[in-house]
Amino acid sequence: MIRELRAWARKHTERSRYSPVGIAFHWVMAFLVLFQLGWGYYASWLPAGGDKLHAYEVHSAVGLPILLLALGRFGWRLMIPGPVNDADRQGWQTQVAYAMHYVFYVAFFGLPLSGWAMWSSIAEPGPLYLAGVVPWPQLPFDQMPLTTRWRIMDLAEDVHHVLVITLLLVIPLHVAAALKHHFWDRHDVLRGMLPEIPDAEDPREGSSHRPREPQIPNGKAPG
Ligand code: HEM
Ligand code: HEM
Repeated sequence: MIRELRAWARKHTERSRYSPVGIAFHWVMAFLVLFQLGWGYYASWLPAGGDKLHAYEVHSAVGLPILLLALGRFGWRLMIPGPVNDADRQGWQTQVAYAMHYVFYVAFFGLPLSGWAMWSSIAEPGPLYLAGVVPWPQLPFDQMPLTTRWRIMDLAEDVHHVLVITLLLVIPLHVAAALKHHFWDRHDVLRGMLPEIPDAEDPREGSSHRPREPQIPNGKAPG
């Protein structure tokens, strides 16, 4: 099974592209994380009361799936190596890009886990729901003395804040690097992370549509 999956993914990675699974993970999680950053700040600025509580319920309902997606994505990434693209030959810049990817993975796990710990360490935690639908358990803090729970709350809050600030620094750098590679260096990096629209022959009878000829960058014929 793993061998077949690797062979399937290799068809994409050999062309400097992430596999469709890798691409889906990237864009779904990028969207959810960006939403969480905006919504988290919105919730934190609301005055104490029912609206604030509801905003945090939405925040946890959207945040918990990120933990499951992170597990799936991490497993996928261990099994299926990413493509080697133009950006992998940039020396220290490549190392910085890899370091950023590690930081993202730490945040994918650390933010939902610290959020879950915060929620579970409140004196009387309300129920949690995955995506607002599937009941999600509290962490087993309820038998602990209140002072220990306060300490867990403090620590989890610090971890959450530090990871949020880290994302706010790293995401703009990551996006800027992706755009620079694409528009400035004309590298294949961003293209490899975008969904591919197949330019196949039109199956309708009598259609004259044919796939385009491959573009040769310097205008010379190959060979
Ligand atoms: C990738 C996922 C997540 C992101 C990006 C994120 C982001 C944020 C942001 C931007 C804030 C407001 C600023 C701050 O307090 O630092 C916040 C606060 C908070 N988040 Fe999250 N969060 C995530 C997941 C979760 C989850 C899964 C839960 C709960 C199960 C959660 C619970 C909380 C709580 C309780 C606060 C309030 C903290 C306080 O008032 O000090 N978060 N989050
Ligand atoms: C408009 C926004 C974004 C663009 C244009 C973008 C673009 C890219 C590109 C081109 C790559 C491939 C890099 C390479 O192979 O060297 C990549 C990888 C990656 N991006 Fe983004 N990205 C965006 C947003 C985000 C966000 C918000 C996150 C995290 C919250 C994120 C996390 C990652 C991770 C972890 C990888 C490594 C691939 C993997 O291990 O799965 N990206 N991104």
